[in-house]
Amino acid sequence: MTDSSLPDRAVHVWWAGLDDAHDGLARLLDPVERARLDAYARPDDRHRFLLGCAVSRIALGAYLGADPADVGLVRRCPQCGGPHGKVRLRDAAGAGGIRFSVTHGGRLVGVAFCRAAEVGLDVEPIDQALDVDELAPDVLAGRELAALAESGAGADRRRDFLRFWCRKEAVVKALGVGMRTPFRRLEVTAPRERAAVVAWSEHPEAVGTTRLYELDAGPEHEACLAVLTPEPLTVVPRRAGALLRSWATG
Ligand SMILES: CC(C)(COP(=O)(O)OP(=O)(O)OC[C@H]1O[C@@H](n2cnc3c(N)ncnc32)[C@H](O)[C@@H]1OP(=O)(O)O)[C@@H](O)C(=O)NCCC(=O)NCCS
Repeated sequence: MTDSSLPDRAVHVWWAGLDDAHDGLARLLDPVERARLDAYARPDDRHRFLLGCAVSRIALGAYLGADPADVGLVRRCPQCGGPHGKVRLRDAAGAGGIRFSVTHGGRLVGVAFCRAAEVGLDVEPIDQALDVDELAPDVLAGRELAALAESGAGADRRRDFLRFWCRKEAVVKALGVGMRTPFRRLEVTAPRERAAVVAWSEHPEAVGTTRLYELDAGPEHEACLAVLTPEPLTVVPRRAGALLRSWATG
């Protein structure tokens, strides 16, 4: 890594492609992660999970000056105690308060890192089979449905719907609440407007204290980053491919 520092007022967003996955990365994983990796039946799901773990560990290892395999991560669901949920550094305070968020969708895997505040990242492939008409009433608030009605048909409509979706999922991931919260009660700005939280009955404090950043994930994916701070931060995209390949031979 050329620059291994994570400045206080920055968010680094690391991106990997499915083609960056290789078996050599599995030795970075801890036993909990290996058990989850072994449980995936489909190669793409396996590769997405492997890349999420590997990018998290390689970047954190660089920020902390540690061996990626030695970075202590906690994967424990607060609901059931299972080995899933928002992943955290075992000693986040000792690690300068680094928070991070992992996402996988389509052919991309992303991990966002930040010292200043909690982050949530979401990426979605645009070409996924999606019945927008069926999903929209459960996901979108009245004003959002009206904005979606102005979208075109086909891919344009799917992209606009997924832009709403990514904004909402990024926010719930930053808070760590996941999709237990009804998405239609979390209202965000329309697809052509600057991304922001407009209203949320469950968490009214999120309005004005959550920043959303639309990310450029290429023509085939939508992506959004949420940061739980009213202060502006600098979002820096990074490519993980070369670093991941450097672990092929060790
Ligand atoms: C969080 C959630 C929205 C992510 O959905 P997804 O379709 O898997 O989407 P992504 O690929 O973008 O994100 C997956 C990553 O989010 C993170 N994550 C999981 N749960 C999370 C939560 N509650 N909050 C924030 N991040 C979470 C993990 O790092 C996960 O990566 P991993 O599978 O490699 O460990 C969804 O998994 C969810 O709602 N989970 C909570 C459901 C729940 O509470 N279940 C109770 C289980 S007992």
